[in-house]
Amino acid sequence: MCQDCGPPSRRSFARFLAAGTGLTVLTACTPEAPKAGTPSSAVPPASTSPSASPTAARATVAARPAPSPTKAAAGKPSRFSLTDPTSPWLIVNKHRPLAPADFAPADLVRPAVATTASGEAALLNSTTAAAAEAMFAAAAADGVALVLASGYRSFAAQTATYNSHVAARGQADADTASARPGYSEHQTGWAFDIADGGGACGFQPCFADQPTAVWVKANGHRFGFVVRYPWMFHPITGYYYEPWHLRYVGVEAASDMLQKGVHTLEEYFGAGAAPGYA
Ligand code: DAL
Ligand code: ZN
Repeated sequence: MCQDCGPPSRRSFARFLAAGTGLTVLTACTPEAPKAGTPSSAVPPASTSPSASPTAARATVAARPAPSPTKAAAGKPSRFSLTDPTSPWLIVNKHRPLAPADFAPADLVRPAVATTASGEAALLNSTTAAAAEAMFAAAAADGVALVLASGYRSFAAQTATYNSHVAARGQADADTASARPGYSEHQTGWAFDIADGGGACGFQPCFADQPTAVWVKANGHRFGFVVRYPWMFHPITGYYYEPWHLRYVGVEAASDMLQKGVHTLEEYFGAGAAPGYA
């Protein structure tokens, strides 16, 4: 085990970045072991409902019907598909590209929340938008400012985002932080990035210590959200810690993951680790 990483602190992580050594430094470190009783044995409850209480999102297109019950990829009973991009339990990662690669949600809406995003980046699918509105309101009631920093990205937008990362840091390093086009949750409308009201530590490791990130980590499950790329689970998710990237999976699944101590969708749904592109 890497002596400098036992357990690694986010400050040391930030120092790596500040020193210009980049994220690849951490590849030598051993992640926290996933907690017992999680991976493929964790079958979501059959009664799981993916929906947070819908609120009045400003719909730009008609909301879609609820996803149909289906079988999980591993053959275990499950209410929602792990492969359908319109399913709240979709798993998209470096081993599981979107199909079709240029998928675009049919129900994109602009949630009525504070945002620094514009254009398509201010959109989410209708279910996620409603849940985000409820969560942002609850955070505000607790005195915590949440800001939508980046929501939906089309295949073309993700191509531009990914290419800018590659240009800035090379492909190997870019692949630890930005999904290749056709492999991003942002393209599904189920995920978005947050910032705090003042923009502190935006998209930086120190964001994890901001009240906004702390609140979301503790309360996101109440609205169906998980922090999709947790600290030191990059050998499973394929990406380093992103305390700002939230993914909607539904209240019961998100709450069940928290209660069971399961950190990643790959473990919860038994989908297997996806550290790199196949
Ligand atoms: N930053 C995440 C992995 C994305 O690009 O979708
Ligand atoms: Zn993101």
